[in-house]
Amino acid sequence: MSSTPESTSPVNAWDAALYDNRHAFVHRYGADLLDLLQPQSGQRVLDLGCGTGHLTAAIAERGAAVVGIDASAEMIDQARRNFPAIEFHVADAREYRSQEPFDAVFSNAALHWVKPAEAAVQTVAAALKPGGRFVAEFGGHGNVRYILAELHAAVSLVTGTNPGDFNPWYFPSVGEYAGLLERAGLEVRYAFLFDRPTPLDEGEAGMANWLAMFGQPCLMTVPADLRPAVITAAIERMRPRLWNAGGWTADYRRLRIVAVK
Ligand code: BEZ
Repeated sequence: MSSTPESTSPVNAWDAALYDNRHAFVHRYGADLLDLLQPQSGQRVLDLGCGTGHLTAAIAERGAAVVGIDASAEMIDQARRNFPAIEFHVADAREYRSQEPFDAVFSNAALHWVKPAEAAVQTVAAALKPGGRFVAEFGGHGNVRYILAELHAAVSLVTGTNPGDFNPWYFPSVGEYAGLLERAGLEVRYAFLFDRPTPLDEGEAGMANWLAMFGQPCLMTVPADLRPAVITAAIERMRPRLWNAGGWTADYRRLRIVAVK
């Protein structure tokens, strides 16, 4: 994100300052994606789901003219405060269209929030010049599998209802996403699904902070007075696998993509 959080989610109202303070790992991890993007001076780059703008600014530092968009007005306000010289817009990744095409579209930790994914891919294809590149990373198939399973188990335990296998996010396999890109006229040059266990900041509070920031879509059907009990139960269920040596680790899996129009 970067959308949502780096964020394109219509369901979350993001606390952008909190996101900047407690979840900086999102853009820290995205930094090496810039080496795949290789932004050059004279190029126009669109950062889809730019969140609070840290990677947008890193792209600008490398000399490209960059535009950051995010569906969250809170994120864009914070991005403008962080980087007043950069162009940011509140816009939905499913609908954004620009008069002027881009040499590259970049996206970090955002596209798992955007459904239907086909609409976001149409935006990418429409934004690019012929020969333009799409460089993205987001949650891939199996991302946060354990967090989600324990959250569902805790919902079931505390409320007596069964959330089934509800997944509010889009975590595709390589094959699924490559097909989607090809159908939109993009040639996939690189696609890589990999485990990236991600240490969360802030010690013991790390998982509660993560759930407070990102877990809301899974808790929407839970009555507000029961949510704290669900979160406490979920955290205790996750502890044997995700707590180690004074810190929490999220079971992230990333899908990294380079494709050309
Ligand atoms: C992720 O970056 O993988 C992620 C973030 C929030 C919710 C789910 C997944």
